[in-house]
Amino acid sequence: MANVVSSALERDVAVITIDNPPVNALGHAVRQGLVGAIATAKADAVVKAIVIACAGRTFCAGADITEFGKPAKAPSLADVINAIEGVGKPVVAAVHGTTLGGGLELALACHFRVAAPGTRLGLPEVKLGILPGAGGTQRLPRVIGSEKALAAIVSGEPMPVEQALTDGLVDRSAEGDLAVAAIAFAREAAASGKPLRLVRDRDDRLAATRGDRSAFDKAAAALLARKQGQQAPAACVKAVANAFTLPFDEGLAAERALFRALLDGDQSRALRHIFFAEREANKIPGLGPAVQARDVVTAAVIGAGTMGGGIAMCFANVGIPVTLVDTAAEPLARGMATIEKNYRNTAARGGITSAEADRRLKLITGKVGNENVAKADIIIEAVFEEMDLKRRIFAELDAHAKPGAVLATNTSTLDVDEIGRATKRPGDVLGMHFFSPANVMRLLEVVRGKATAPDALATAMAVGRRIAKVPVVSGVCYGFIGNRMLHKRSVESERLILEGAAPEAVDAAVVAFGFPMGPFAMGDLAGLDVGWRIRKSRGATAAVADALCEAGRFGQKTGKGYYLYDAGLRTPKPDPEVAKLIEATSARLGIKRRAIGDQEIIERMLYPMINEAARILDEGIALRPGDIDVVWVYGYGWPAWRGGPMHYADHIGLPNIAERLGHYAKQTGDATLAPAALLSRLAAEAKGFASHNPKGAA
Ligand SMILES: NC(=O)c1ccc[n+]([C@@H]2O[C@H](COP(=O)([O-])OP(=O)(O)OC[C@H]3O[C@@H](n4cnc5c(N)ncnc54)[C@H](O)[C@@H]3O)[C@@H](O)[C@H]2O)c1
Repeated sequence: MANVVSSALERDVAVITIDNPPVNALGHAVRQGLVGAIATAKADAVVKAIVIACAGRTFCAGADITEFGKPAKAPSLADVINAIEGVGKPVVAAVHGTTLGGGLELALACHFRVAAPGTRLGLPEVKLGILPGAGGTQRLPRVIGSEKALAAIVSGEPMPVEQALTDGLVDRSAEGDLAVAAIAFAREAAASGKPLRLVRDRDDRLAATRGDRSAFDKAAAALLARKQGQQAPAACVKAVANAFTLPFDEGLAAERALFRALLDGDQSRALRHIFFAEREANKIPGLGPAVQARDVVTAAVIGAGTMGGGIAMCFANVGIPVTLVDTAAEPLARGMATIEKNYRNTAARGGITSAEADRRLKLITGKVGNENVAKADIIIEAVFEEMDLKRRIFAELDAHAKPGAVLATNTSTLDVDEIGRATKRPGDVLGMHFFSPANVMRLLEVVRGKATAPDALATAMAVGRRIAKVPVVSGVCYGFIGNRMLHKRSVESERLILEGAAPEAVDAAVVAFGFPMGPFAMGDLAGLDVGWRIRKSRGATAAVADALCEAGRFGQKTGKGYYLYDAGLRTPKPDPEVAKLIEATSARLGIKRRAIGDQEIIERMLYPMINEAARILDEGIALRPGDIDVVWVYGYGWPAWRGGPMHYADHIGLPNIAERLGHYAKQTGDATLAPAALLSRLAAEAKGFASHNPKGAA
C-alpha cells in the first residue's frame, strides 16, 4: 500500500503530511498512518510541536464515503482525534483547499489552525443525510459559538477563510508558504509556555447560549422550517444543543448515537445514492479514456431570449467568453439588459462583488447575425421552438462555424436528429437541454443524436461540468427524460381535479411529499399558455387547462390561473371561480366527482411517472436508473432525501407499484397506465430498478 502518511522533522517541529489523492479522504490507511506518526512524534523528546498538513490541492475533504455501510475498521477517526488530544505538545493543523467534514473535525482536534488564502471550511455531512460524527457538533460550537455552528452544520455550507478567521475557527491566515507559516506558529506556541487548551475544554463561547437559549431556539426553528420531513437537519440541531446542555463526553456519545441512527436510515441511503448517481452519470458506455473532449475556449449562444440569456451567463460565470447573437438590435438589447439586471441584482444581494459583475458582463458580447459564431468552439441555439427555423439556423451555423465546433440545440421537444440533418456535419450536433432559469437550475440533459460523434458528446458533458451543471445523457425522444415523465404527471393531475380533488389539495399532497411546489402552482409560475400552445400544435387537449387559457388565465403573469394572485404577489390563493369551472367541466364530460385522499393523490402523481421511466429505461433513452433520479432531483425538485423516482420505486417495492398501476388503469380506462413491460418483469422477478443496468452501463 502506498505510504499515505509521512513525517519529517523540521528541527524541533514534526510535520506529518497526508498524501492520499485526489482529496486526502480519511480512509483507513490514512487513519492508521496518522495514529502511528502521532505516537512517534509524542515519544520523540526532540519534537516540541506538531504540524498536520496535506499534500496536493486540499486538506482532507472528508471521510472516505466508500467505507460507509461497511464494518468500521480501527483506528476510527475518533481514535485519531484521541491520539492528537493526548499528545501534550502543541498541534497545529495547516489547512488549505476544501477542509470539509472529517477533515475539519480533524483540524478541530488540533490546538490551532493556520489556513492558506482561499481555504473553505465546513461540515457538509447533512447533505448526505448524516451529521458530523467525530465531534464536529461538539467542538465547532466551542470555537465559534452555538448559533454560528448551528447555521454551518444545518446548512452544510462551507465558510470562506476570511469568515473563519473572524469567527475564531482559524487562528492565523498564512501569507506565503503554508507549511512555513504553520511551523512558525507551532514553534511560537511551544516557546510561549502558555498552557495548552484543547477545544473540548473550552467553554467561553458557549456561556451566553447556556444562560439564555432563546436566540438559539429561534434560529433552529427558522432553519428547520425549510427542511420539513428531513431527519438529518433535526438531528444536527439536537446535537449542537447538546454542546451547551451536556458535558463534552456525553455530548460526544449522543452525537455518535445520532450519527449511527441516521447512517442506517432510509434518508441517508437515498442521499448517498444521489451522490454516487451524479458521479456515475458522467460514465458513458463506449466513451472510454481514448475519447477526448474537444478544447473549448470560447462559446456562442443563438437567441437572446429567456433561455439564451441564462445560458450565456453560465459561460461568463466561469470565465468563458461568449458571443450572444440575435436577429436584430432590439431583441439583442433587451436580452443584454436582462442579463445586466440579473448580475446587478446578485451583486446588490451580496452574491458577487460589483467588480465581479462587471467582469462577467464584459465576457458577454452581443452581436446581430449568425455569421458572428465563426470563432466559437461550442454554439448553443436557443431560438423559438419551431423546426423550420431551427433547421434554417443549423444550416447557417454549418456555413459559419469553424470545423470541429460543437453545435448544440436547447430544444425541449424537437427531434435533434432532424435538426442535425440540416447540416453537413451531424456528428457535431447534439442537444443541450437547459432548465429555466438556465443560470440557476443545475440539470443539463445532453441529448445524443443517432449521428452524434463520441467526442462531441464528451465535449458537451465536459462543458456542462465546467459551467457547474449536472449533465445527464438522454437519447432522442419527445420530452427527453424529464419532460416525458412530467407529461404523465400533468395528464394525471388534470384527471384528479376532474374526478373531485381540489387543485390546492393536489398541490398540498405533492408539497408534503417534499417537492418545493405542486403541479398547479408550478403551471401558474411557468405560464399555462406554454403548454396550451404545444397542445394545440400537437392536436392534444386538457379540458381544464384549455378552458383556463381560453378565459385568459395564463397563471402568475396574468394574475390568475389555477389560483388567484394579489397584484405583485406570488402567493397562490384558491379561486372559487376555478372550482366552479372544474365542476362544470366534470359535469360536461360526465365524470362523477368523489372525495380523493392524499394516498391516492400521491400514487397517481408519482406512479405513472415511474411507469414512463421504466419505458425510458427499456428503450435505452436513459442509460441507467440513477440517471433518471439525478434528472428529477436536479431539474424538477424531487426531494433528494427520497432518492429520485427510481430509488423511491425500489423502496416502495415494484410489485406494489405494478398492482396500483393496474388498478388505476382500470379505474381511469387509460391502458397506458398499466405497468410497463420492464416494470412488470422486474416486479415478477422480485427485483428493483437498481438491478437494471442495461447496455454495459457501469
Ligand atoms: N423557456 C423555457 O422554460 C425553456 C426551457 C428549456 C428549453 N427551452 C427551449 O429554448 C428555446 C428558446 O426558448 P425561450 O423561452 O428562451 O424563447 P424566447 O422567446 O424567450 O427567446 C427566443 C429568442 O430567439 C431569438 N431568435 C428568433 N429567431 C432567431 C434567429 N433566426 N436568429 C437568432 N435569434 C433568433 C428571438 O429574438 C428571441 O430573443 C426553445 O427551443 C425552447 O423550447 C425553453
